[in-house]
Amino acid sequence: MKTYNFPENFWWGSAASGTQTEGRLPNDGKGENIWDYWYETNPELFFNQVGPGKTSQFLSKYEEDIQLMKKTGHNSFRTGIQWSRLFPKGTGEVNQVAVNFYNKVFDELLANDIEPFITLYHFDMPLELQKKGGWLNRETVDAYVAYAKTCFELFGDRVKKWFTHNEPIVPVEGGYLYQFHYPAEVNMKHAVQVGFHENLASAKAIAVYHGLKLDGEIGIVLNLTPSYPRDENNPEDLKASQYADAFFNRSFLDPAVKGTFPPKLIEVVKELNMVPEMEADDLDVIKNNTIDLLGINYYQPRRVKAKESAIDHTNGPMPDDYFDNYEMPGRKMNPYRGWEIYEKGIYDILINVRDNYGNIRCYISENGMGVENEERFIDAKGEVQDDYRIEFVTDHLKFVHQALEEGSNVQGYHMWTCMDNWSWLNAYKNRYGFISVDLAQDGKRTIKKSGYWFKQVSDNNGFEA
Ligand code: BG6
Repeated sequence: MKTYNFPENFWWGSAASGTQTEGRLPNDGKGENIWDYWYETNPELFFNQVGPGKTSQFLSKYEEDIQLMKKTGHNSFRTGIQWSRLFPKGTGEVNQVAVNFYNKVFDELLANDIEPFITLYHFDMPLELQKKGGWLNRETVDAYVAYAKTCFELFGDRVKKWFTHNEPIVPVEGGYLYQFHYPAEVNMKHAVQVGFHENLASAKAIAVYHGLKLDGEIGIVLNLTPSYPRDENNPEDLKASQYADAFFNRSFLDPAVKGTFPPKLIEVVKELNMVPEMEADDLDVIKNNTIDLLGINYYQPRRVKAKESAIDHTNGPMPDDYFDNYEMPGRKMNPYRGWEIYEKGIYDILINVRDNYGNIRCYISENGMGVENEERFIDAKGEVQDDYRIEFVTDHLKFVHQALEEGSNVQGYHMWTCMDNWSWLNAYKNRYGFISVDLAQDGKRTIKKSGYWFKQVSDNNGFEA
């Protein structure tokens, strides 16, 4: 047995997003975003055809939920403002019903000593803006900056931790390469432009936030997937892993922290003649407006090897032209989500941030395990006995602790997620929460075993294992 103590004021909590939790109420004034629209037009794409309207109903149940956060040891909680709730058309008139709702949520969190961490963009493009191209269109950058400014002005007196994006590489991958977000294109040129505009929007929002001289911090949340080569001593495998790292991690990590793009990425876009359209001072804006705080989402590593399979030219160039995925023999899997579980990855990320990104203040903003059919594990009291989740979190926290001991500037750990929530195309397939949500009983909440366990960890600021 060893005791793992964490620093005073360590952030214990969880993360969620607006689209995945809020739901809809009559007259809530919310406009449509790409998820509402995609579900209306193609419900068959969503697991069991469950759409974003039928979510965990945070809109009406937030008071109860905040009490449950307290019972599960939260001192902080990240969610997002839904852009299409605040600005139903993405620009123009603010929806006062939304302002009232977010005011009440932030006040209620603070009254319960739970610090709100707020994401501005979590995959939820307002439909009106998507119709004009979404992130492909430079006008969206301006619309986003205006939206961000409104959020800072409305809520910045109480919200002190802001995040410009959640996992900005995901709309690039999902929307423009691998077809799991709307508009589900396969177009590398568009992917590059979208990624550039997201980076630019983030830097511009940071500039506005710093200009307002509010007493808080602004950062970005990135899903960092360490790219491990099949064989570290094989230069071709190593090179493949460097490309994967440049595409999927450094494309946002470098501009966010250092204000520059990684040389390998620049080399590829130049070689492919896909340098994004930009204005004269854009690179300076990115250079001069970097983050205060980094959120790190970690679920799984990426393992790669030198390209051995034939390059598929059907849809033009793809990141996959530069590497092949590698299935490491004996890897530990979460079979429900199909993701490898590799706890040491969280340590490797933190050490990389310590050594190569100025040891910037950071925290684990998401980590978690989605499990299908959790009803199997419900006991007589109606509680999910999710020992596997406790083991998953413990094993990851041990590595966070090790990184801390070795000088990492990691400030907290947030679980994905608080209440089981709606997960995009996977809808309610895999459950991630500390608290279960019974859709058949109007979203009835019940704390899982892991939720009680997490309360103890938070109260003790550590654990023994
Ligand atoms: C993260 C996202 O990638 O992982 C969440 O920030 C998402 O929005 C979570 O729900 C779990 O992934 P998935 O694909 O199982 O929903």
